[in-house]
Amino acid sequence: MNAISTFIEHLPKAELHLHIEGTLEPGPMFEMAARNGVELPYASIDELEAAYDFGDLDDFLGLYYRGMSVLVRERDFYDLTWAYLQKARRQTVLHAEIFFDPQAHTGRGVAFSTVIDGIHRALLDGEEKLGVSAKLIMCFLRHLEEDDAMQTLDQALAYKDRIAAVGLDSSELGHPPGKFKAVFARARAEGFLAVAHAGEEGPAEYVWEALDILRVVRIDHGIRSLDDARLTRRLADTRLPLTLCPLSNLRLGVVKDMPSHPLREMMQKNLLVTVNSDDPAYFGGYLNENYRAVQEALGLTVKQLHALARNSFLASFLGAPSRQALIARLDDYVARRAPSLGDAGTIR
Ligand code: HPA
Ligand code: ZN
Repeated sequence: MNAISTFIEHLPKAELHLHIEGTLEPGPMFEMAARNGVELPYASIDELEAAYDFGDLDDFLGLYYRGMSVLVRERDFYDLTWAYLQKARRQTVLHAEIFFDPQAHTGRGVAFSTVIDGIHRALLDGEEKLGVSAKLIMCFLRHLEEDDAMQTLDQALAYKDRIAAVGLDSSELGHPPGKFKAVFARARAEGFLAVAHAGEEGPAEYVWEALDILRVVRIDHGIRSLDDARLTRRLADTRLPLTLCPLSNLRLGVVKDMPSHPLREMMQKNLLVTVNSDDPAYFGGYLNENYRAVQEALGLTVKQLHALARNSFLASFLGAPSRQALIARLDDYVARRAPSLGDAGTIR
């Protein structure tokens, strides 16, 4: 491993865009299928992985929903979440804000309580045994009707203390944020924060809707914002965070190659951007692989990596004392490690 790769490995950071169902690795998927009597249409792990060749978001979502059908019991949701948290610890992820998709489980007969109990129990263990703190974001599936989301919100009210925010994910095109105006208004009135996927495959107009109709405090993806100069200025002026997912963008054909990823341009335009992994079991890497991919393709400096990690804490839902403590830990790490990496913190 080269010096910058090692620097990234130990860099204290937060992950803010991670679908827990997207961390289901092929091995555990087959094990859970066997123990739950669920049939998968693949004869082997190799055959499954060969299918991970996605043309676009919908292509991926088909496999994503089929894969998660092996999650049936509380233990499955616990194991899934626990495996991610262990991985996070190894990658120096000190805090994670984790999406889950209850409708993708309740829609096939798994109880809401089974899902949230398993995930929550793992999060408690993660905090206690691994020192990784976490918050949960409940996503509504945008390809379903708003009524369905409203019923899901009803179920979530009993678990308010375990869920920090609501989000919006799944198939974007044809499902603008405005479709979910009422359920987001109600969620906010009930005290949930709001975020939404917008501007991944969909246009900049969807980012406007997420801001002005759903009143989100963070945009997931949002890379199409650059198509609209007025939107870009607004995001810069308000420093409203965006959670970018470089390897996901590459694998879903949202960018043509990594050197054309807009992350660096967005930083230069003063947007508060963060690096995240989205669905790491499907997109070829966890958080550090995402940092490495953009560092290499865009020639990011130590100073820029430091800014990205700082942004991850600034953009989090942590209270000010915890956020400041983690930023202090980050600054201390960079102060100790950066000098050995070369002049002015520049790698190349
Ligand atoms: N976009 C939309 N919905 C999703 C994604 C994504 O990248 N991953 C899991 N659900
Ligand atoms: Zn996502």
